[in-house]
Amino acid sequence: MHHDTPVHHDTPVQHDTLGYDVEAVRAGFPALADGRAWLDGAAGTQVPDSVIDAVTGVYRSGLGNQGAAFAVSARLGELVGQARRAVADLVGASDPDTVVFGPSMTALTYRFAGALSAGWRPGDEIVVTELDHEANHWPWVQAARRVGAVVRVAPLRLSSGTLPAESVTGLLTDRTRLVAVTAASNLLATMPDVASITVAARQVGALSYVDGAHHCPHAVVDLPAMGADFYVSSAYKWYGPHLAAVVARPGVLDGLAVDNLRPVRGPGPVPFELGTNPFPALAGVAAAVEHLAAPDGEPAAGDAGGRRARLVRARTAALAHERRLGAELVAGLRTIPGVELLPGADADPATRTPTATFRLAGTSPASLAAVLDRAGVNVWHGHAYAWATAGALGIRDDDGAVRASVNHYNHAGDVERLLTAVSRYAGSEHSSGYAAGREPS
Ligand SMILES: Cc1ncc(COP(=O)(O)O)c(C=O)c1O
Repeated sequence: MHHDTPVHHDTPVQHDTLGYDVEAVRAGFPALADGRAWLDGAAGTQVPDSVIDAVTGVYRSGLGNQGAAFAVSARLGELVGQARRAVADLVGASDPDTVVFGPSMTALTYRFAGALSAGWRPGDEIVVTELDHEANHWPWVQAARRVGAVVRVAPLRLSSGTLPAESVTGLLTDRTRLVAVTAASNLLATMPDVASITVAARQVGALSYVDGAHHCPHAVVDLPAMGADFYVSSAYKWYGPHLAAVVARPGVLDGLAVDNLRPVRGPGPVPFELGTNPFPALAGVAAAVEHLAAPDGEPAAGDAGGRRARLVRARTAALAHERRLGAELVAGLRTIPGVELLPGADADPATRTPTATFRLAGTSPASLAAVLDRAGVNVWHGHAYAWATAGALGIRDDDGAVRASVNHYNHAGDVERLLTAVSRYAGSEHSSGYAAGREPS
């Protein structure tokens, strides 16, 4: 089928009822000035000036280490506490000393897999899922194998791209020690009912470790309501620097033993952290949370209730914006001949992130991503490290899929540009070009 005119994607952006001004938000992000459509936030978002300034400000105003007698040292120590407080506010936790920082979600998960598995015995059981990113799957499997624990894998429902709670809870027994589950799939975008899973896990005496890497940027996180014993996310997915945090349920950290140096003492998060703190990145984390509380630089009207209340208001408005664009993205992709959305696209927008993952008949995802690159659109392609998910779908060894993800700085023009480029290419001679092994044009 040939059609040179792009299928219609000129739906005007409606004005946000919650007063979300996306152009004001965009103005704070210097990287967006290159004019490309940045639809790759699921792999890492851009950072606003406020975060860049916070990071560079630490370098500019003097470095040292915590514990010295001079003023800079005290200030650096305060930064650590401020970053813990900020992350606690972001997820609705009350105690900043439940926040553990680490270099990445993967590094932290290996750290916690080591700490938790120290208490497992042969015959104990753990549950991981097919919906999870490899970083919330394989570290647990490796740890279980080392101690002779049994690994149970909760299956994905392939037709809908979802992980029903019963898929996990049906595997729980009185030997289950841990449930590792994602709060949102970074490939299929679906969000399981984590609260039901954590409640069921606790009933059998198991701990829950919830991956919020793709969830946190697209949710108003309420950790007490979610009930997770551990919730992990990476600040570089929510407009911050490359640093990650685990937030634990109050009291849970203190029951765990981890390797650290002799002078390092608990209680609280410090024994879980290794070496000197990354002070500039921690300042960036606190600034990223402030950004989320006021993405256009203006605190939401009425500052009542402190930062947590500002976060809830501002995030609610930003998520409504993202969700609408995400729905336009999915709806537009559906109209393009040859586009095959991965399962999960049909899920209620309230139970999925604004991320669309798709393939185009006759074109490899890598080729399509290259076409999009030439059209000025940044997307991801491949399995996105959702190794079990891509395996279950049968696309892991077939170049995965193209993933386009919406973040709060994206505007309708970004989505339109992607849809126009895909539909133009779908209507061109691409199929024969790909089959002949030529570079797509
Ligand atoms: C859902 C999910 N979990 C975990 C990770 C790993 O995060 P990190 O790069 O911080 O190790 C990612 C990164 O893409 C992710 O999307």
